[in-house]
Amino acid sequence: MLFSNEQIERRIAELGYKIGEDYRGLHPVFIIVLNGAFMFAASLLKSVRIPCEANFIKLSSYSGMQSTGEVSVMLESEKNLAGRDLIIVEDIVDTGRSMRFLIDSLTIERPRSIRVATLLFKPGAVIGHVHLDYVGFEIENRFVVGYGLDYDGLGRNYPDIYVRSEG
Ligand code: IMP
Ligand code: MG
Repeated sequence: MLFSNEQIERRIAELGYKIGEDYRGLHPVFIIVLNGAFMFAASLLKSVRIPCEANFIKLSSYSGMQSTGEVSVMLESEKNLAGRDLIIVEDIVDTGRSMRFLIDSLTIERPRSIRVATLLFKPGAVIGHVHLDYVGFEIENRFVVGYGLDYDGLGRNYPDIYVRSEG
């Protein structure tokens, strides 16, 4: 086990509180990246005590433990995002390809601002630069499951986060 549910919830509450402070007087739209970020988003939004909206988007890039390197949008945000303050909510930034793709796709919608909240970040795996505003935990370059993160569809329901052992 890498992080217990208690550790995770405590850290997310801190991030949510910080976001609430940073966006005081504003009305941001959370762009929640399905499927992995559903659990993170559920906790995060409960600790953001300002008016906000939630929108869902779906990307696809991974199969098994290997990034396929190709990212595509499978489900688009149903909202007009022009002029809005967007906060992307992701489970993990690994190579950073998905995040860069997402930021580029959302920029086309002409929002007023875009920030990124990710529960996990693997600094050793990232290719190029990705700007992250709210990071739960930095982790080693190992495959993790639980708290929304899956290995070929399984493990999303685990309350804690585990490092997946090889083989
Ligand atoms: P990236 O585009 O390489 O940054 O990959 C990001 C996506 O790959 C994340 O949104 C996850 O869905 C998935 N991913 C990356 N690393 C892991 C991991 O360790 N466990 C589970 N999913 C992962
Ligand atoms: Mg994901």
